[in-house]
Amino acid sequence: MQGENQPGVAYFCPMQLLDGKLVSRSVKEKVKDKTDLLKKEGKKTPHLAAILVGNNGASETYVASKVKSCEEVGFKSSLLRFEETISEQELINAIEKLNNDEDVDGILVQLPLPKQINEETIINIIHPDKDVDGFHPVSIGKMVQGLPTFIPATPYGILLMLEHYKIETAGKHAVVIGRSNIVGRPISILLSRNSYPGNCTVTVCHSKTSNLKEICLQADIIVAALGIPEFLKADMVKENAVVVDVGITRVADASKKSGFAIKGDVDFAGVAPKCSYITPVPGGVGLMTIAALLMNTLMACETKYKKQA
Ligand code: GUN
Repeated sequence: MQGENQPGVAYFCPMQLLDGKLVSRSVKEKVKDKTDLLKKEGKKTPHLAAILVGNNGASETYVASKVKSCEEVGFKSSLLRFEETISEQELINAIEKLNNDEDVDGILVQLPLPKQINEETIINIIHPDKDVDGFHPVSIGKMVQGLPTFIPATPYGILLMLEHYKIETAGKHAVVIGRSNIVGRPISILLSRNSYPGNCTVTVCHSKTSNLKEICLQADIIVAALGIPEFLKADMVKENAVVVDVGITRVADASKKSGFAIKGDVDFAGVAPKCSYITPVPGGVGLMTIAALLMNTLMACETKYKKQA
């Protein structure tokens, strides 16, 4: 039987890559078609405003990709850059201006922020109707209740990926490693929802989990979102598991022109041969995060017209 470890019986476990490039392209095409339609109907162009504070290399790269992706789907985008030394009040003022700008549909403040700024305060200032990152307590509350809302982009991207590949989730044991507000906690809630993808039995593991390996070995689906490069090893994964790698850590690598390599939370070479499906890094979840952000921004724009109707 495929994937089952029976003595003396050869088994074959074909692994399929969950291709973020392919799926994000397909999501972007849908977003572009809907954007073209809005324009054709004489409605407004979706507009994302991104705020970048300081010069964090990774944040610069992510925000540049987000702005470029807006262009690709026909959105308008504004990039507001601030010095690392900006005060919390100055940042609040900038966000309030965007809240009051009728043309702006979605606001994104790239995290992390410098130490003098309280991230919670900043997230709470963004108007919930423009909270395309889905981090505002109103968005999170609605998500927990299963109401329509903005879903945080990375978990939303994971759902879109599972959906694209028609991966069975109902009744499966999903183990989420990591409990961040951005990924671990929301994906654990979403996978337990009574919908598709969802209906999983979910276990959330974190830095204080004592028997992590035993729990992972029971998982049909593993979402690794702890931010430790190559943490998930082959001996922690059962045959045929679906593995979603959320890690994107820059690791020094003198052989690269940039001086670093991007590593996921999964030891891909060891784990992949055991999986039914696995996301690569790069080329997996990261691209889906951006696609999901575009979906949320489109929804923010479309909702304006639904409210008027
Ligand atoms: N930093 C890491 N991931 C994210 C994200 O999804 N949104 C924002 N705004 N910042 C991030």
